[in-house]
Amino acid sequence: MNQEIHINKEIDESRQGEATVIESSKEKNGKKLYVESYGCAMNFSDSEVVASILTKEGYDTTGDVDEADIVLINTCSIRENAEDRVRKRLTNFKNRKKRQPDLVVGILGCMAERLKTNLLEEEKLVDLVAGPDAYRELPGLIEEVGTGQKAVNVLLSRDETYADISPIRLDKSGITGFVSITRGCDNMCSFCVVPFTRGRERSRDPQTIYNECKELFDNGYKEVTLLGQNVDSYRWNMTSKGEIKDETKPTTNFAQLMESVAGVSPDLRIRFSTSHPKDMTDEVLEVIAKHDNICNYIHLPIQSGNSEVLKRMNRGYTREWYLDRIAAIHRIIPDCAITTDIITGFCDETDEEHKDTMTIMEEVKWDFAYMYKYSERPKTLAERRFEDNVPEEIKGARLTEVIDLQRRNSAIKNKAQIGRVHKVLVEGTSKRSKEHMSGRNDHNTKVVFPTGDCKVGDYVLVKITDCTTATLLGEITEVLVPAK
Ligand code: SAH
Ligand code: SF4
Ligand code: F3S
Repeated sequence: MNQEIHINKEIDESRQGEATVIESSKEKNGKKLYVESYGCAMNFSDSEVVASILTKEGYDTTGDVDEADIVLINTCSIRENAEDRVRKRLTNFKNRKKRQPDLVVGILGCMAERLKTNLLEEEKLVDLVAGPDAYRELPGLIEEVGTGQKAVNVLLSRDETYADISPIRLDKSGITGFVSITRGCDNMCSFCVVPFTRGRERSRDPQTIYNECKELFDNGYKEVTLLGQNVDSYRWNMTSKGEIKDETKPTTNFAQLMESVAGVSPDLRIRFSTSHPKDMTDEVLEVIAKHDNICNYIHLPIQSGNSEVLKRMNRGYTREWYLDRIAAIHRIIPDCAITTDIITGFCDETDEEHKDTMTIMEEVKWDFAYMYKYSERPKTLAERRFEDNVPEEIKGARLTEVIDLQRRNSAIKNKAQIGRVHKVLVEGTSKRSKEHMSGRNDHNTKVVFPTGDCKVGDYVLVKITDCTTATLLGEITEVLVPAK
């Protein structure tokens, strides 16, 4: 757990900058497309939508950037360093264009939305700019580049959910897939750029979500992760105040949606991210408890353990409220793993306020945490209202303290698993050794074990014999459901 190694909770560092590669479904147009993704699971999932739209137009995707005619970079704006990394990458392509003038370079995602025409007109780093709600327009935008026009579409939509775009998957193992259930965010946490880059929150038709999960399962997938910035605020046919929009049609909340998806098959595991402490209901917890195939794992970002800081962050809950939600999880779902996100050095954060984050860490003992130094983002409420006045060294020192404590907590949690038997979904060969496989347990912890008779997609029982800070090590005791 280095400082800032996790760009976000779902996509680990090793996958940042990964390419999306799929087969073209229609007659090919001879053009090769390379899509590279940064940021959160939403972005990786969107890259699959982009690849799907463009392969329908005859483009072929490639994993080899050197043979590409079109390069699209799907970007993240969450912290300044996320943007710096993409800017460096774009500068590389600018140099390559000197050798290959026909190369089309486009920027997608959150940086595209935030910077709009800047990267095209002022910095001249790209030929094409498409925001997160404009991906259906990509074929036309690419054509516009060909005719020398400024290819920009950063319009945000109130209803685009790409609900009808059939899933094309980038996870190469064909075992785990992301399914977006909401887009955008209405929360306005004061530090956060997402409401500006992703627009208003909208929920996707539950039937299309069910169908997508079913289709994945029928194609051999064993796990889906339902994605949204705040999954608990998923609502279909209801206004944000809970009023029914169309009396003749059924309504669906997040608990009901999970119940429905859990019914696809007992062998399809369900995960979801991200839960919001202010909106997570007991009804959702009860659905998790009731279904064996909904994982006992909740990512519940706290951000700070001090109620005054939480107020400045506009998070909509207090320390006490958060602790009440933790108590509810323990009461309703025995043996549930809980992870969190923490920001150190937010505007005006005092030593005392920081200590409250340390004490709540001692109290809750999260299984894992993603920890960041506050990074001021343009146009956010915090940028307009407060001063980014905690010096960099103090932000860093507080982050180190938080990371050290979390490392100790994670080690305690992992050691407690030694001797226990976990059900693990086999996801692939271990990075370190060909004779070992790796997968994750119900708690979302990585488990590594000798291959034995198992193959990718099997559920196996693994007896835990040892651990490192972030991984459990063990031996298979039984192969449960052989992969199709
Ligand atoms: N919707 C999710 C968070 C998405 S962003 C939620 O509400 O929990 C993922 C994490 O990045 C956040 O939880 C927060 O910890 C961190 N983050 C967001 N903006 C940040 C900023 N300006 N500086 C540092 N960390 C930030
Ligand atoms: Fe950002 Fe808050 Fe929305 Fe999460 S809930 S995306 S932190 S505004
Ligand atoms: Fe980054 Fe946008 Fe996701 S800012 S974290 S890619 S929603």
